[in-house]
Amino acid sequence: MKNPLLPVFLALTATLSVAAADALMHASARQVLSLNGDWHVIVDPYDNGYFNYRLEPYDAAKNPTSGYFLDKQPASPSDLIEYNFDRSPTLKVPGDWNSQDDKLFYYEGSVWYRRLFDYTPRATDSRQFIHFGGANYEADVYLNGRKLGRHVGGFTPFQFEVTGQLRPTGNSVVVRVNNQRHPEGVPTVNTDWWNYGGLTRDVMLLEAPATHIRDYSVQLQRGASRHVTGYVQLDGSSLARNVRIEIPELKISTAVATDSSGRAALDFELPGVALWSPEHPQLYEVIFSAGADRITEKIGFRTIETRGTDILLNGRPVFLRGICLHEENPLRGARATSAEDDRLVLTWAKELGCNFIRLAHYPHNEAMARLADEMGLLLWEEVPVYWTIHWEDPATYANAANQLTELIARDRNRASVIIWSMANETPVSPARTAFLKKEVALARQLDPSRLISAAMERRSDPADPATNIVEDPLAEVTDIVSFNEYIGWYAGLPDDCPKARWVVNYNKPVLVSEFGADARQGMHGDRLARFTEEFQEDVYRQTLPMLDKIPQLRGITPWILCDFRSPRRPLAGIQDGWNRKGLVGENGMKKKAFFILQDYYAKKTAEAGR
Ligand code: GCU
Repeated sequence: MKNPLLPVFLALTATLSVAAADALMHASARQVLSLNGDWHVIVDPYDNGYFNYRLEPYDAAKNPTSGYFLDKQPASPSDLIEYNFDRSPTLKVPGDWNSQDDKLFYYEGSVWYRRLFDYTPRATDSRQFIHFGGANYEADVYLNGRKLGRHVGGFTPFQFEVTGQLRPTGNSVVVRVNNQRHPEGVPTVNTDWWNYGGLTRDVMLLEAPATHIRDYSVQLQRGASRHVTGYVQLDGSSLARNVRIEIPELKISTAVATDSSGRAALDFELPGVALWSPEHPQLYEVIFSAGADRITEKIGFRTIETRGTDILLNGRPVFLRGICLHEENPLRGARATSAEDDRLVLTWAKELGCNFIRLAHYPHNEAMARLADEMGLLLWEEVPVYWTIHWEDPATYANAANQLTELIARDRNRASVIIWSMANETPVSPARTAFLKKEVALARQLDPSRLISAAMERRSDPADPATNIVEDPLAEVTDIVSFNEYIGWYAGLPDDCPKARWVVNYNKPVLVSEFGADARQGMHGDRLARFTEEFQEDVYRQTLPMLDKIPQLRGITPWILCDFRSPRRPLAGIQDGWNRKGLVGENGMKKKAFFILQDYYAKKTAEAGR
């Protein structure tokens, strides 16, 4: 039964959190104190620490700040306080709770985290913010017993200003994280990945001058390979001032004057710039300064666009040699939380011969796009509008739109990111298409420089099962027509691939965003024996030439680089709670299909070089 007070409660607290568009960019550059490490925790399956009700239900009007486990200490021995963080166990942050404690492996509920820290501002008139790289799925944040706000959505950053609320010692930050799935959520209750809960991303304290540079966008204009357009946005009291942008290596030093709202447009040439590409991932140090504030960031400059059925990177046709990736370190069987975790899997992708990664099915940690910038990998980034979410619920759309906004705000200056994906495998209906077209319009408004797609679906022609039709009203408004197909695994057997015909009536680039088959690493047998490496190898061997017959094919991202945990995969002795479509097992061993794809990509690379 839905809590009738929930909308009231959400309204009360939603105003407390810093909206995505107002979040401080490039948090790590502003970090003055990492709050990573051991946090004391209280596991709270009944949300006793949240509503603190004994008999009567929670009343948002009576008690808007809600929260009981707020780190109070008994004033005297006769005080009744039935919790004590200091004596509670700890969990590592960043990190999911499922992989840190066997008792929490399947846990879906609330965990209360508490961290103490001392802090003295670096400058007298500076401002402080508590920044979270992400928390799955909803987080309520309190500082020194006072509620800062609430964030919903498991994979994007959020922060709260705490200027004037910090004391030199003993600051107590408490976070209730709840990972329960909701029908109206984004994603909804059914997903083919593990519902890792917790403070799964970095937590840090940021400091910035009273008036500072909050947000900026510095990218090459679509189709113009030397022309930068964008904006810079200040935050603070005296907003109309000069902002200087310098790129020393290119001898660029240009100043703009912000208006009374603190905003200025950027529009300048970059003579002599070496364009970023997977082959030459050239990054430049870009320095922004305004008054007392100075921030630097490594940025690559490239253009991405489509022309007819071609995808043009820096004006040249490119074939996207991709692979799909969940945000998991398979060797730990846990949420990936660091650049080290990301480097492990991106190195395997490079070994495969990839120039492209589909980061499925939700925004990955911020380090991933920065690492892809350095390593030379193009990225598809996606919000978890996955399968059958509630298309007609305005709160569901607002949630999806907020996650898309937060993702774009965070990664808009990453050269590696070329595609924003709106959704994955969403059955066509008028409500679904209306929802997704709104998302597309929002993405284009927020970032006109990148391409838009979504993982759509194919269907068989009832009159002729060998004819596969890709036809989706959403494809009218996306730049790239992407779809998932599983001929040989969910549809027929590998020998059906050569007979397959494709009807894809769009004069747009086509990207096959998923295909594959399960195989347990080290399990061998006949090529028609399911879950053997030979079966998976045969699916790849027969799928690749089939897809090459699609004249508009300009990329593929097979499902998936690594085996990953999923509650939907119970087959004992083979799956054991893992989806086995990886080309690499959770033991880090490559399967035979890895080398089929590696060989195909080597040929594609040679053709491109020709
Ligand atoms: C779907 C879905 C994936 C899922 C995969 C599978 O295409 O997009 O999230 O894991 O199929 O069934 O393995």
